[in-house]
Amino acid sequence: MLRCMPLPAAPTVVISGTGLSHPPHTISNAELVASLTESVLRWNDEHADEIARGELAARPVPDEEFIVKASGIRSRYVMEKQGVLDPDRMRPLLPLRSEDELGIQAEMAIPAIMEALDQAGRRPDEVDAIIVGCSNLQRAYPAVSIEIQHALGAGGWAYDMNVACSSATFSMQAAADALRSGSARCVVVVNPEITSGHNNFELRDFHFIFGDACTAVVMERADDATGAERWVVLGTKLETQFSNNIRNDFGFLNSSEARPGEERDPHDLIFRQRGQQVFKEVCPMVATHITGHLDALSLDAAAVRRFWLHQANLKMNQLIAKGVLGRVPTDDEAPVVLDEFANTSSAGSVIAFHRHRADLVSGDVGVICSFGAGYSVGSIVARKC
Ligand code: COA
Repeated sequence: MLRCMPLPAAPTVVISGTGLSHPPHTISNAELVASLTESVLRWNDEHADEIARGELAARPVPDEEFIVKASGIRSRYVMEKQGVLDPDRMRPLLPLRSEDELGIQAEMAIPAIMEALDQAGRRPDEVDAIIVGCSNLQRAYPAVSIEIQHALGAGGWAYDMNVACSSATFSMQAAADALRSGSARCVVVVNPEITSGHNNFELRDFHFIFGDACTAVVMERADDATGAERWVVLGTKLETQFSNNIRNDFGFLNSSEARPGEERDPHDLIFRQRGQQVFKEVCPMVATHITGHLDALSLDAAAVRRFWLHQANLKMNQLIAKGVLGRVPTDDEAPVVLDEFANTSSAGSVIAFHRHRADLVSGDVGVICSFGAGYSVGSIVARKC
């Protein structure tokens, strides 16, 4: 008779290093508003007759004060600045690279990964899995992660995944699952976000939202890890719920899809959202998600030392943390990086974790939480060793 043997306990997983890279160029709100204002005024001038006849509406100019008040964003890093600020272009101008050159996403990933590996005390050839999780991949295939694996001289396997702004936490859960199941021993999760390629710099509702940055995280089995700083993953929790309120229809069917007599609006093929609705629907979803995750781990919210939240909107983060804690959090409890970085999509919560954890001590518990299009929410609860 066959007997069921008890399964061995899953190995404990730790985060043993993080890294960050960003382009050197910054754009202030003032610079962004100046270029969009010029572009809008030119457009209104060119269409003055139609506007006067009531056939077209004059386009409204952006306002610097609105940006800080509505979002908390003051600046952003971008891969290329001149093209974004050129009123005749309003998007980055990136030199097209040959197939023999390292791709731009792989290139921005390498320094972030090296910093994370250095912290973990690991060499690139000890990595046996790489997961690229980000909102916008520069091509369909070969996977950017496999290009990174090749450039690093890493072994094992690699794949790309996209769950928009939640890509970091979703790929961290995938990494933890691979480590627990034994399909990998040293996983790099990397989030190379070139959001300036999908942002709409032509519309005042969207032009200020995003910035470029890349984060990397090394995850290992606790019994393998040798780095000086280790964070035990106490739990991971993911959640999705369909919504059209944040969309980007760019894809390989674009050139085939058609409606008779109708041109596709190019603004559909980059980022767009209904910001107010996102705000109203996502804040309670995220607060309930984090509370449920902490409950499942028998942790009291008051015992959480820090919340490293997705960085899309300052008021949103305050509302979410208030939903969890019952009061507005201090900057120390829910640190902010979006004033410097803007929304870097999946990289945001990891930038917060990377920049704001050095002061925490052994035994402190924190929550990394990302949320965004899908809708999608992911949380990682971790305790410092
Ligand atoms: N300058 C001046 N006015 C602007 C402007 C700008 N750059 N952008 C928008 N406005 C105007 C709007 O046109 C609107 O004018 P109206 O009242 O005459 O129609 C008014 O300001 C309010 O716009 P609204 O979009 O309702 O502002 P908001 O307070 O919701 O702030 C966001 C906008 C995008 C900052 C906010 O909704 C947000 O962050 N939402 C969550 C987004 C999110 O997390 N998305 C996930 C993405 S990954």
